[in-house]
Amino acid sequence: MNGRLLLSKGHTIEANHIRIFKIWGISEVNLVGVNHYDDTSDPSVDPVMIEQTEKSVKALFCHADLEHPAIKEIYRIAVQFRCKHNITVKDDNLTVDNRLIPQQEREKDFLKKLQKKNIILPEIPAVAFELKKVIENPRSSAEHIAQVVSKSPSLTAMLLKIVNSSFYGLPSKISTVSHAVSLIGTQEISVLALGISVLSIFKNIPKETIDMHSFLRHSLVCGLLSRVFAAHKNIPQTEQLFVSGLLHDLGRLILYIYFPDESRHVLARSRNRKKLLYKEEKDYLGCDHAQLGMQLMRQWKLPLILENNVLYHHRPSEAQQSVPATIVHLADIVVNSLGISSSGEKIIPPLDVNAWENLEMSPSSFETIIGQATHQFHSLASILNA
Ligand SMILES: [Fe+2]
Ligand SMILES: [Fe+2]
Repeated sequence: MNGRLLLSKGHTIEANHIRIFKIWGISEVNLVGVNHYDDTSDPSVDPVMIEQTEKSVKALFCHADLEHPAIKEIYRIAVQFRCKHNITVKDDNLTVDNRLIPQQEREKDFLKKLQKKNIILPEIPAVAFELKKVIENPRSSAEHIAQVVSKSPSLTAMLLKIVNSSFYGLPSKISTVSHAVSLIGTQEISVLALGISVLSIFKNIPKETIDMHSFLRHSLVCGLLSRVFAAHKNIPQTEQLFVSGLLHDLGRLILYIYFPDESRHVLARSRNRKKLLYKEEKDYLGCDHAQLGMQLMRQWKLPLILENNVLYHHRPSEAQQSVPATIVHLADIVVNSLGISSSGEKIIPPLDVNAWENLEMSPSSFETIIGQATHQFHSLASILNA
């Protein structure tokens, strides 16, 4: 520390060393050759089940580097989480019907195809449009936001549910939006309400196309994880990160709604070849869901930071604002690993190592962060049925 040798390699750390570390502000050390499972595995979980889960989960990590400390820790937590909640990996090979889309119709530039087909992307909901104006105006008052939000009873109900859940952990019950705003802040509540209202457009997608409930769960957990990661990094705009996570796979909904045949095909190809879904989208359609999502956000003129986080959530090191994009990226990897839900992807997306290094986060914090976010999810899950 600061050029001082406190303890040389190969020593056993004892209580007095820990005391010295604390004095020097060292919060953690890397241990070599320690098997995590010996120390932290839950003794109540059947070892046979652990073994089976490990085997099936390992297969899902086929595109990730299990030797990387961050991935190794996510994998460890994922195995425990899946054992504890009895989450099994379903083998759902889908049939690829090559006759479904003739070769010549497989448009390489999908964004052009979107224009050619004259597809009108959904409009931003009126309430979200008004909220956007509120966000842009630094002088917006609590009353002003309450007025906008209360135009939509479902939005009001959802917002109050979030505010009263363990998401904020407020000591007393909040029953009005203006009270919520005065406690949590104008900008924060507006961004939160914006995210919820945007996602509500896609509520009525037919079941055959996608399990919308699973999609929403994926989005919500990713949002919660992004928010807790951001808080851990002392990033002040945690609501923006929550909304980025909530909307990160929005582009997939465009695919599922407007191009159901192509979507099914791309899904089947990725499943059967064990290829990452977003790569398959790119190869087969010429663009991936992150680009489509960004397109929609641009059309809606949503805050630029949301565009940044959505477009780069699979390659955050290329983002202008890499830290928030990396947080959503990491949250997405975690939510896929836990197996609670899916937006279509089955395989765990690989970690952008450069972005990870830039984030300067320790994998040892994952367990607490994931614990917090999943706890919040359980207290919030009912909003998905609203
Ligand atoms: Fe994604
Ligand atoms: Fe995702």
